[in-house]
Amino acid sequence: MPGTCVIGLQWGDEAKGKIVDLLTEQHDVVVRYAGGANAGHTVVTGGQTYKLSLIPSGILNAGVKSVITGGVVLNPPSILGEIDGLVQRGVQVSDNLMISDRAHVIFPWHLEEDRLNEARTSKNGEAIGTTQRGIGPCYRDKVGRTNAIRLGDLYRANFAEKVKSVAADKNSLFPLLAAGTPFTPLDADQIIADYRGYAARLKPYVADTTAYLLDALENDQRLLFEGAQGALLDVDHGTFPYVTSSNSSGVGISSGSGVPGKYLNRVIGIVKAYGTRVGGGPFPTEQANDIGQHLRDRGNEYGTVTRRPRRCGWFDAVAARYTARLSGVDVLSVMLLDVLSELPEIQICTAYEINGKRVEQFPSHVDDLREAKPIYETVPGWQTDITGMRRWEELPKNALAYLRRLSEVVGRPVQIASVGPDRAQTIFHPECEFAPPAARTPVLAPSN
Ligand code: GDP
Ligand code: IMO
Ligand code: MG
Repeated sequence: MPGTCVIGLQWGDEAKGKIVDLLTEQHDVVVRYAGGANAGHTVVTGGQTYKLSLIPSGILNAGVKSVITGGVVLNPPSILGEIDGLVQRGVQVSDNLMISDRAHVIFPWHLEEDRLNEARTSKNGEAIGTTQRGIGPCYRDKVGRTNAIRLGDLYRANFAEKVKSVAADKNSLFPLLAAGTPFTPLDADQIIADYRGYAARLKPYVADTTAYLLDALENDQRLLFEGAQGALLDVDHGTFPYVTSSNSSGVGISSGSGVPGKYLNRVIGIVKAYGTRVGGGPFPTEQANDIGQHLRDRGNEYGTVTRRPRRCGWFDAVAARYTARLSGVDVLSVMLLDVLSELPEIQICTAYEINGKRVEQFPSHVDDLREAKPIYETVPGWQTDITGMRRWEELPKNALAYLRRLSEVVGRPVQIASVGPDRAQTIFHPECEFAPPAARTPVLAPSN
């Protein structure tokens, strides 16, 4: 049975949540395999907007199992708040949600380390600009092992002892990390009491999700993998060190979920029709000018998690070609196409100039990326409102030409185009195998 993967190919916020939600009904299980509450995935349907963070976007379909695997770092109060918010709005969250006992748990010390680290590094202009959700410190402890606590550990007899030992270590570390920034020492007893309460509430969802997914595959269940962040934020393959701390490109699916790569046979690469980035790090096609502001205004480009204004710029095909190949992408889904509708001309970056040389390969070192000057191709805009369009052939000639050009420069076919936030504002290419049955172009009976 196929495993379908939805992967962001830029720096996150490509509108992955919208596509996952749309594809959910064609699957049995939706899987989040990396990242944590740094993710903010938006689904708009039936006049309602849902902002999901740790819970897979599949949760809005009660007939589908939503699984959070061991590759995710879990902040208990965040997920409990998210569950409560969904339940209050009438969304079922019960045995349709499963959370891995292998997931590493975010504790108050991770949030504090993230905050102190950012405060210290911002003094010399080197801050990553994290979401301050404790993601990096939690993954660091996971890899370091000694101070790591997994969800399954919350139910073991030595849990309190473990918290006391880690809290003592962290309390001695904070003054060094803080470098003058005020901080509050950890109260281990309070943390133990709080986390016992969270553990009790989370218990019904906790399971061995690796075993569950491997069984599901043997039972021909259809799996849908929901990427978080974007491939350019991948810790190994992204714009290091301005990245997140997990493998957010397609390469992270197997390690995060335990599902062997041979089952991941359909990959949809999600891109915006332009580019955005939140936080620090180079962004060659950034438009820190009126164009960037226009994109921010039309695209409502403010972070879902932190509300920070997103940096905006033109579509970078050098980067997208790299991440499409890295993630084994089969087809592209181009999102927020409507945001470009008013522009008379649109630019696409098809190569860089670095130190006087034309470069088509995405640089592996951040210093080279900093030097990269985009080489643009200019194409005409369509200057027509496309938000009400629902069929491929209806799109203006110049919008179709833009999509065709993106296919050529990225090297993968564009088969989905999104023209507004609502689930209904999605257009499938007639050959797209992912089109929900209702969206398939009817085959007309021959008239005589
Ligand atoms: P994710 O993190 O990849 O799931 O993306 P986010 O939810 O953080 O950001 C995408 C934003 O774009 C959300 O506010 C969506 O509601 C919105 N959105 C999705 N598709 C479209 C589209 O085609 N047009 C417009 N204008 N907005 C869209
Ligand atoms: P979704 O899933 C956009 C960025 C942060 C920062 C860097 C490291 O909604 O696409 P972290 O808190 O992970 O240590 O921050 O990564 N970042 C995201 N940017 N969308 C996201 O998630 C992001 N998750 C992290 O802004 O630059
Ligand atoms: Mg987001």
